[in-house]
Amino acid sequence: MSTVIDRTEGDVNRSGRRDLWRSGIMDAETRYWLEMDEQYFLHQPLSTPCLDVLASSSGSRLKNLAGRSYLDFHGNNVHQAGHAHPAVIQAVREQLDTLAFSPRRYTNRPAILLAQQLAERAPGRLRKVLFAPGGTLAISMALKLARLATGKHGTISFRNSFHGASLDAISVGGEEHFREGMGPLMHGAVLVTPPDHDSHTLDAPAVARRAAKGIEDVILATGNIGALVAEPFRYTTVQVPHPVFWRSVREVCDRHGVLLIFDEIPVCLGRTGAFYACERFGVVPDIICIGKGLGGGVMPLAAMIAREDLDRSYTTSLGHFTHEKSPVAAAAALAVIRVIEEEGLMERAMEMGALLARGLEELRSRHPAIGPVRSFGLAVGAEVNSHNGTPAWEIAERVMYASLERGLSFKVSGGSVLSLMPPLTVSRDEIGQALEILNGALTAAW
Ligand SMILES: Cc1ncc(COP(=O)(O)O)c(C=O)c1O
Repeated sequence: MSTVIDRTEGDVNRSGRRDLWRSGIMDAETRYWLEMDEQYFLHQPLSTPCLDVLASSSGSRLKNLAGRSYLDFHGNNVHQAGHAHPAVIQAVREQLDTLAFSPRRYTNRPAILLAQQLAERAPGRLRKVLFAPGGTLAISMALKLARLATGKHGTISFRNSFHGASLDAISVGGEEHFREGMGPLMHGAVLVTPPDHDSHTLDAPAVARRAAKGIEDVILATGNIGALVAEPFRYTTVQVPHPVFWRSVREVCDRHGVLLIFDEIPVCLGRTGAFYACERFGVVPDIICIGKGLGGGVMPLAAMIAREDLDRSYTTSLGHFTHEKSPVAAAAALAVIRVIEEEGLMERAMEMGALLARGLEELRSRHPAIGPVRSFGLAVGAEVNSHNGTPAWEIAERVMYASLERGLSFKVSGGSVLSLMPPLTVSRDEIGQALEILNGALTAAW
């Protein structure tokens, strides 16, 4: 097993364990559709061949063709408001009945209102918005805007980061899994070591300042850096830098005319306890990219929110996407924002995140497989330990499949981190059920 597989974004299906899981599926109809899926889709190590065939979803749960349900603590991070929230579905239905598509050069009320709502909630001077049909494309627009605004094409981003799977996004994304075999990537994309995420030590602020200084050294040595692209914290493995890191990086960027681009695609809209994750660090970037749950898990939608004075692209198009101002996606997003605020989901994220993290700490006291637990709002990650020569990634995969068998779906990230991301609507009872399942899975997997 290569380190490329060990450290990737999600659990890959090259370990053979997915085949084993599939061979245990007895339902004939499910087997038929899984085979059809494999026949007609190109294989990809993070998706096809697939785990199961879904029939329906609602709230925290996915249901398969055979009628079994999974608690969905993964949801591809589109499920801030839970799956198929009635308010989101209703908004989409109503919009479909009136204006389903808005050709470019026309606009529509839902798209304008959504841009306004995103801008009004954004910190600092982040007031200008462009939409895109996916997060990768929002990153792409941000990279172009940074080139136009600064006249510099170089970027700094972190090793082992992920910003999407297109060629420009993998140039700034540092995960080898996505770069393997791709040949030359974007010129001027410099990868640096990510910041230390152990914020509890006494010298953490000093370490954070030194890391920011290291970034400044790269900017000075390179001379052409126009943007620094990063997640405010590494979401899938829940690695959270000290706030001093981002404040120091902000100062470095200001000193050298470098735009700070925050990729908040999976964490925006309340998961961290704030509407935008940057608020938790007290730092205002120059551009925020959001996506995933913006479309309510119903419509594909992402956005770039930029400083108003960066609105200078009068001769070059940044996005130019067919679904640039989708009224249906905007209606879904407006409903999502309403749900997040009316149902108090930001406060709930903090409460449920603390509950889940406490439960995992309790499991840690009983299961040697569990290592340090990290949480930031309702993003919760638990490191898995190696045992008697069995690598941590293998134990983590065993725990994941044993949990799936028992009805809990989540992702393994960074090779050996159990990545637990429930919807923000998750109930206390569902958190309890998930911990109970993990308890059984940890016993089975050790
Ligand atoms: C941090 C981050 N950036 C960008 C993306 C890409 O978003 P999309 O899949 O919507 O293109 C993802 C998707 O997982 C992500 O997690």
